Amino acid sequence: MNNRPDEITSRRSPQVIAVSSGKGGVGKTFISVHLAARAAQQGKRVLLIDADLGMANVDIMLGLTAKGSVLQVIEGQSELNDILVQGGERLDVLPGGSGLHELSHLSAAHQHILLDALDNLTQNYDLVLVDTGAGIGENVMFYASSSETVLIVLTPDPTSLTDAYALIKVLSTQHNTTRFMVAVNQADEVAAQTVFRRLLSVSDRYLDVVLDYVGQMSECPSVRKAIQSQKLLYSCGSQKDIDNLNRLADTVLARPRRGSGGGLQFSWQSTLAEGLYAGNVREDEVI
Ligand SMILES: Nc1ncnc2c1ncn2[C@@H]1O[C@H](COP(=O)(O)OP(=O)(O)O)[C@@H](O)[C@H]1O
Ligand SMILES: [Mg+2]
Repeated sequence: MNNRPDEITSRRSPQVIAVSSGKGGVGKTFISVHLAARAAQQGKRVLLIDADLGMANVDIMLGLTAKGSVLQVIEGQSELNDILVQGGERLDVLPGGSGLHELSHLSAAHQHILLDALDNLTQNYDLVLVDTGAGIGENVMFYASSSETVLIVLTPDPTSLTDAYALIKVLSTQHNTTRFMVAVNQADEVAAQTVFRRLLSVSDRYLDVVLDYVGQMSECPSVRKAIQSQKLLYSCGSQKDIDNLNRLADTVLARPRRGSGGGLQFSWQSTLAEGLYAGNVREDEVI
């Protein structure tokens, strides 16, 4: 944990980036984990939240073992701090097995306890990355609509493009999210540009959104090797592949924050709650 007061280098609220996709298996977790690692390398204090309902695997990719559950936090038996796992220097992980994906199904009272705990926890970090999972389900909407920035990951696979468009459409028309970063995975630069242009042309025609292309990651065997051996690409990839991934990560991390001029504190209580109620979750839904 890197949250001792004397280690706090910035008093600004954390930047919160949700990493989402229309379709699963496009590389969200791979990109989230490496974005987190790269930001930590650059000196940022990073919290990586695994909120993927279907395929929570941040801990597996980083070779970590999850402990505890947010249910214990709700019941007052532990603090969120207790279930964090250290993923590296300046990098903490809130693993998926922790029950965080159930947030949108909790009673209003339990949500408040948890959102309060998240508010407190995230203030200790410079960057919070949320691996939201795929699709237009309630959980993805919940996290994506309440994050400062949404990074959409897609591949040249046509269904990935259609599903990314569907996600952007729902987020923009139902949750007022109008700006998106877009990264194309498993594609060389030419293929990635082609995919992005197709997404842009249909979005420009039908939606009122701004899409910000942040780069690509090529399809490479060393990615599979790294994932299989539960290691970061840095320890087993070729320099070319590492440079490619760093370029993408650095572009995302260098983008100016929205509304960063103001002194407003980022609040999960207010922003997540808005996202939640926009998602039509009934107050009487209890775990
Ligand atoms: N750039 C890449 N090159 C090769 N294989 C990749 C690449 N990115 C992802 N993969 C493969 O895709 C799989 C799914 O990646 P993952 O990050 O778990 O996707 P998601 O989180 O979107 O479901 C990985 O296990 C890996 O085998
Ligand atoms: Mg994943």
